[in-house]
Amino acid sequence: MEATNLVDLISENGITLNKSGTNYKGLCPFHSEKTPSFNVNPLRGYFYCFGCKISGDGIKFLMQHSRLSFVEAVGVLANKANIPLEKKSIISPNRNLDEDEGLNCLKDAVLFYKAKLSTQDGENTANYLRKRKVSERMWKKFDLGASPNDWHGVLNYLKGKNKLVKNLFRTGLVKFSEKSESYYDTFRARLMFPIKDIHGRCIGFGARTLNPEDNPKYLNSPETTYYRKSNVLYGLFEGLSSIRKLRQLIFVEGYLDVIRLHENGFSEAVATCGTALTHNHLKIIKRYAENIILIFDGDNAGKVAALKYTHLLLSYAFESYVVSLPEGEDPDSFLLIKGKDAFEKMLGNKIPALDYLVKETLKKFENSIQGRMQCMEELLPTLSNISDMKRRQLTLMAISERMGIPPEMITQELQKKSNKNLSKLNINGSIQSLSSSKVSQDELWLLQSLLRKGNLWPIVRQHLSPEEFKTPYFKKLYARLLEFPDSVFQPFDPLKLEKSDPRLFQAVMNLLKEEIRIHDFGLSLMRIKERNLELSFRDSILKSESNEERAKIGARRRKEEKKIKDVKLLFDGNSTC
Ligand code: GTP
Ligand code: MN
Repeated sequence: MEATNLVDLISENGITLNKSGTNYKGLCPFHSEKTPSFNVNPLRGYFYCFGCKISGDGIKFLMQHSRLSFVEAVGVLANKANIPLEKKSIISPNRNLDEDEGLNCLKDAVLFYKAKLSTQDGENTANYLRKRKVSERMWKKFDLGASPNDWHGVLNYLKGKNKLVKNLFRTGLVKFSEKSESYYDTFRARLMFPIKDIHGRCIGFGARTLNPEDNPKYLNSPETTYYRKSNVLYGLFEGLSSIRKLRQLIFVEGYLDVIRLHENGFSEAVATCGTALTHNHLKIIKRYAENIILIFDGDNAGKVAALKYTHLLLSYAFESYVVSLPEGEDPDSFLLIKGKDAFEKMLGNKIPALDYLVKETLKKFENSIQGRMQCMEELLPTLSNISDMKRRQLTLMAISERMGIPPEMITQELQKKSNKNLSKLNINGSIQSLSSSKVSQDELWLLQSLLRKGNLWPIVRQHLSPEEFKTPYFKKLYARLLEFPDSVFQPFDPLKLEKSDPRLFQAVMNLLKEEIRIHDFGLSLMRIKERNLELSFRDSILKSESNEERAKIGARRRKEEKKIKDVKLLFDGNSTC
């Protein structure tokens, strides 16, 4: 750390620091404040905030402020200090040059589309933006652009900049036509919304047609190595500093809603890119905000979505609220017609998500004993999804109060439900009783061996990610176990979990009490990986558009197979029992 001056590092990240004695002081970037309580001690290479108590060194600063992983943060600091790190292996093992080149293509494409807005090619788009009253300040903030009405616009432009077509293809900017055996622009004659990752790099586009008859209205980049729609939120990068300060986020449904809110000073607005809100999105949001406000259209579809999302939100420790718009309005039209004050007022009337959930669920059923039982039945799964026991209990109490049902009764029902679920996972007998199509035997054996053979963890965690499990329950369990350090498993004493995490304890005990046959750990691991490879291979082949592409897929598969064999070798001789 001595190699980098912490004051420089923090200043470069946009925080103004003033000298105060031997220390430096500034406004804390991690919470909202008017008088500086963020202190930096350059000699010790250490920062501390008297307000929010956050503290740490340069690595911690980058991890928290720029949301880098530990390894990335180390990389940045090493770079600054000109300390060579073996880039390939240490900084990001999966990176390769072509992949970086794809990001450069996307970056150039943003500039290309943006420039078009002030040329003849983009005149219609610019006029459309004016018609919709999007200010030029927002054009800039969101790097809006226009794709020309041309099959080879961005393609020729980037080729002219010496980009390889294969790299363009991997970004989703161009597609391949089997018929004409040539590449063409994915986006034509559309208003372009660059979608950015958390570091502000463009990873894909949303693109709106200008023609009301055109279908689809919005075209998004295909899923690529850069753009995974369930992991991105439109507006998150542009709004990050507000979100961080306010620890709040406003969720809306559309690109233009996000922009309209930013335009009116609500820079904490984000939207998904044309998909439903998922656990992945919430995990990302969790890093930056505690409060989340969902704004929905007042129509039926909006209500259904709001209800679905409140269920989802309650299993996270968010302070969450719901705002329903009048029927027929979206945030964009509401702000345009009724103005900022009316919008602010409406936000002020937000309803706590739990109230909303209970109220709307009650509405779905008749006002009778039967109806209330059905309502409770519908709320129970959400309660049992809250893993923090204290929070679960408090939520239960709140539901009981709002529904006028004694808490004991809900507890009882919850208990019944969880017993039923556990028995599915074999409380008294065999996990095999779960219908075999639902449980992967190899995944089961693998987990059982892992719990018994603590020495396998350090290698296994390097070579097997939770995503590789197909049985959802095992996936969750494995992910949860990975949170513990290796030392916990050497040897593993499940009794230690009994108090701190009774649910995990139960789950582990269920796995351990099964008699297991001697079997080869490496073989199970290999079979899991081969199965996944086969699945993704089939998927790629189905999606492939040319023989050339299929040949590549085949070659990639052979390479992956070889890798799997190598991993298996690491575990040879590790049969269980
Ligand atoms: P404007 O009509 O431009 O105001 O868009 P909107 O955001 O109000 O549209 P709408 O409420 O119809 O859709 C909300 C969001 O859903 C959009 O911003 C898109 O992200 C997504 N969406 C809408 N239509 C389509 C579509 O045809 N295809 C895809 N993939 N996404 C769409
Ligand atoms: Mn709209």
